Amino acid sequence: MRIEILRRDRGSDVCYLQVFEYTPEDERETIASMLDHLNGQEELKDIEGNSARKITYKKSCLQKKCGACAMLANGRPALACASKLCDLEEPIRLEPFKKFPVVEDLCVDRSIMKENLRQMKAWFEDEALVSEKRNAVSYESSRCLQCGCCLEVCPNFMIGSSFFGMAGAMPFSRILNEMNKEELKEARKTYNTRVFEGCGKSLSCRDVCPAKIKIGDMLVNSNAIAVWKRYIKD
Ligand code: SF4
Ligand code: SF4
Ligand code: FES
Repeated sequence: MRIEILRRDRGSDVCYLQVFEYTPEDERETIASMLDHLNGQEELKDIEGNSARKITYKKSCLQKKCGACAMLANGRPALACASKLCDLEEPIRLEPFKKFPVVEDLCVDRSIMKENLRQMKAWFEDEALVSEKRNAVSYESSRCLQCGCCLEVCPNFMIGSSFFGMAGAMPFSRILNEMNKEELKEARKTYNTRVFEGCGKSLSCRDVCPAKIKIGDMLVNSNAIAVWKRYIKD
């Protein structure tokens, strides 16, 4: 297989494309296992036989649970550990996300997502209201991996803008769902500024979410609570 990787050295602004040849062991091989195999070689060489630096990318769980390995595969956001090589068209081109500062190669700095959650105050000061009725939304919200795939394709998200995108909205939907009436006042304002007013509702974020979160349904629920002020009665 021909694997094209857009690379960048740490501290440099210059990108370059490096091409590798790779033969998968079987049809279960993913982008992550391929990168690990390449990096595991005693001396990594590109397709022309030139020595190459090991390829930097982020990973942790390797089970589609943490979102760390998100990158662009053939132009589309994907989790490296969940994307099988046999499902991708050749040549396979891997690139870092474009919406975030590149640290090195395929690794980007997504700390803005945490910072945005901090700004939204996405936590409970008081006790959360837990009930069977609220469980489905809370569960769905908890599945957000904070991978940033939704932000990568969102036409309205940019670092520094007041709109925080679905990586902010999904965890915050639990806050709206479980907050008591008094606390909800502030949370409603936050949701309106950080999500509702900036979102064009095109839902391209939904199509790329690797966790397949029901983003449309979640938005309907959060909008009902925050914008139309419907309070869930237990
Ligand atoms: S619905 Fe559209 S504007 Fe809203 S977060 Fe998703 S991609 Fe962005
Ligand atoms: S909403 Fe989906 S795409 Fe966006 S950060 Fe959460 S898991 Fe990733
Ligand atoms: S390494 Fe955790 S989702 Fe891929």
